[in-house]
Amino acid sequence: MSENFFEKTLSEPPTELDSSLRPPDFDQFAGQEKIKERLMLMVEAAKMRSDVLHHVLLCGPPGLGKTTLATIISHAVGAKLHTSSGPQIEKAGDLAGLLTNLEEGDILFIDEIHRLHPSIEEYLYPAMEDFKIDIIIDQGPSARSIELNLPRFTLVGATTRQGMLTAPLRSRFGMVNRLDYYTEEELAGIVTRSAGIIKVPIEPGGALEIGRRARGTPRIANSLLRWSRDYAQVRADGIITTEVADKALGMIDIDSDGIDEMDRRILEAMIHKFEGGPVGLRTVAVAVGEDPTSIEEVNEPYLIMRGFIARTPRGRVALAPAYEKIGLEPPRRTLSEQQDLL
Ligand SMILES: Nc1ncnc2c1ncn2[C@@H]1O[C@H](COP(=O)(O)OP(=O)(O)OP(=O)(O)O)[C@@H](O)[C@H]1O
Ligand SMILES: [Mg+2]
Repeated sequence: MSENFFEKTLSEPPTELDSSLRPPDFDQFAGQEKIKERLMLMVEAAKMRSDVLHHVLLCGPPGLGKTTLATIISHAVGAKLHTSSGPQIEKAGDLAGLLTNLEEGDILFIDEIHRLHPSIEEYLYPAMEDFKIDIIIDQGPSARSIELNLPRFTLVGATTRQGMLTAPLRSRFGMVNRLDYYTEEELAGIVTRSAGIIKVPIEPGGALEIGRRARGTPRIANSLLRWSRDYAQVRADGIITTEVADKALGMIDIDSDGIDEMDRRILEAMIHKFEGGPVGLRTVAVAVGEDPTSIEEVNEPYLIMRGFIARTPRGRVALAPAYEKIGLEPPRRTLSEQQDLL
């Protein structure tokens, strides 16, 4: 369980419990203040004009609340939410089916929108811009395309990989929001709220301990809370205190910086096998036996945010905290060597 705790938590489909922990409105959605403020303003303006909401793009690492925000937006505008995802839409016909099922003002949420096939993406442009699509009717020589008017709708796109989104698609969104990792305090607040919902007693210190080790990610915070609850039931008296949380998380090898076994192996490989880099991500992935995509989406952004590694044009490099994390003295580099590295 420990080795890939985060990756597993982040790649599994949401359970019923996840949905029950999902905040239903902006007020209960912790953090991301700027994004919330912008979205609330957009919703209010659209309502005042009795207009449909502009298309919204939500970007950011897994588990930060993109799906949750899409749901909150649909509640706020009082519109029906239709959900799909890039890989689910295999043919233009699938997209046409989704679009023609919409009603005025509805919200279409496309998760992992960067994985839409290019031909389908192009098919989406006129739908987003002019609320029109071309559909082909008949086959063979009598095949012809007719233009179909769509009800005015709002597309909410989510992506973990903003860099993989094409410029034409990006530019068709009225607003692009990049979700950031949460602070320890925000996560502690989320943990406290969730503990109330699943009815587990928790002390403020316990919530903060979980928040500190949750990798800036609400979904991980909730999952660490569940694990801590199990631990507290079996090994303590059911209450999640600081000490109980510390022991529970220690048991699954998550350290006080939220670094897990896979992160550690990545840092070790970079330092021991590749002299601290620069080294390509794929090479690191092979060295640790993990899928490059999951390293790129889950491990790398967090390691960069915490200053353990840096991304350079020539590859990834391990920074001083990475050496310290695995118990080594960081190499002494001259200024020009450092600049060379970056
Ligand atoms: N700001 C928040 N406040 C409280 N809980 C949150 C917040 N953001 C996310 N959560 C919780 O974290 C869980 C994960 O969020 P969500 O599924 O929306 O993430 P996501 O960004 O869509 O992830 P993925 O990219 O993996 O689909 C939710 O079930 C919700 O309970
Ligand atoms: Mg999601």
